[in-house]
Amino acid sequence: MNRRHFLRETCSLCVTAMIAGWLAESCAGSGRVIQAGVNGQEVEIKASELEDNRFQVIDAAGLRYRIAVRREAEGQYVALLLMCTHARNPVTLTGNGFYCPLHGSRFDDQGNVVQGPAQQPLVHLPVNMDPQGLLHIHLQPWMKES
Ligand code: FES
Repeated sequence: MNRRHFLRETCSLCVTAMIAGWLAESCAGSGRVIQAGVNGQEVEIKASELEDNRFQVIDAAGLRYRIAVRREAEGQYVALLLMCTHARNPVTLTGNGFYCPLHGSRFDDQGNVVQGPAQQPLVHLPVNMDPQGLLHIHLQPWMKES
């Protein structure tokens, strides 16, 4: 193998690895999106729709931002508003947290800032489950489209 052939082969491998890594991060958190509706000041979904220990994204008609929900333990859930606290751009779910493509802020899987410019964690939404197994995710009025 001559030098030119070696360089061409190694560059090709590097580009392939970079694309594979980018795709893996982009797709890691992009599981099924659950469609839901807003009922008053709540989003309601069936708890049985969630997979264990994994964030799932809820797209609720009438909400400005999507919500990520994860079952933490039996009867315990965490819900995060997918809005960057820097300048309110939507954030996306990655393999190990959340990313804002506007200025590059990163948040861990609890919504804490890992990398700025954001200074505040993602907004946590109160969640409770009723006896019928319906999750009620509580909203603030400003989160709804006007
Ligand atoms: S809006 Fe998200 S980093 Fe600026």
